[in-house]
Amino acid sequence: MNLVFIDPKHKFYASELDLRFRILREPIGHTRDDVRFTFEDQSLHLVAVDKARVMGCVLFHPDDHGGGRLYQMAVHGALQGQGLGTQLVQHLETELKSRAVERVHLHARDVAVAFYERLGYRCVGNPFDEVGIVHYMMEKEL
Ligand SMILES: CC(C)(COP(=O)(O)OP(=O)(O)OC[C@H]1O[C@@H](n2cnc3c(N)ncnc32)[C@H](O)[C@@H]1OP(=O)(O)O)[C@@H](O)C(=O)NCCC(=O)NCCS
Repeated sequence: MNLVFIDPKHKFYASELDLRFRILREPIGHTRDDVRFTFEDQSLHLVAVDKARVMGCVLFHPDDHGGGRLYQMAVHGALQGQGLGTQLVQHLETELKSRAVERVHLHARDVAVAFYERLGYRCVGNPFDEVGIVHYMMEKEL
């Protein structure tokens, strides 16, 4: 498995979008049209690639204040629970530190809160609804 940063012009981007659709959008009844965010071109895209197929990904959108939002964290169903998600977040954080990013925040699905807590993220504020799923705002100082 290779971890590589790409942008939306990269040949792996279509495979990244496909994974995001299958793991994050299709299960909640959304169409492929709902997959892209408006700020994707300004985001870092870290993908885990095996045989030219994206098996995991995580995105990061920087803000203007030394922080930013981690989003679209997904691992292929056949590989979940085997450490790839942890590896992706740690690799992203290493890159962010080298870019002097100091804070990361994210919207965690309730089922993923324990995953992020193990990586040092903490819940802030009350749970809220997003795409019909209970989410928690979580933060970490790098
Ligand atoms: C959440 C997710 C990114 C974690 O990546 P991963 O590679 O499975 O996780 P790791 O193997 O590094 O870490 C294991 C932990 O992740 C969590 N986890 C594992 N499978 C999961 C799943 N299907 N859904 C949610 N969390 C899961 C558990 O806390 C697990 O800890 P445990 O093994 O002690 O129970 C991945 O499981 C996934 O894509 N889930 C579905 C989509 C999703 O919920 N994305 C997060 C949106 S905020």
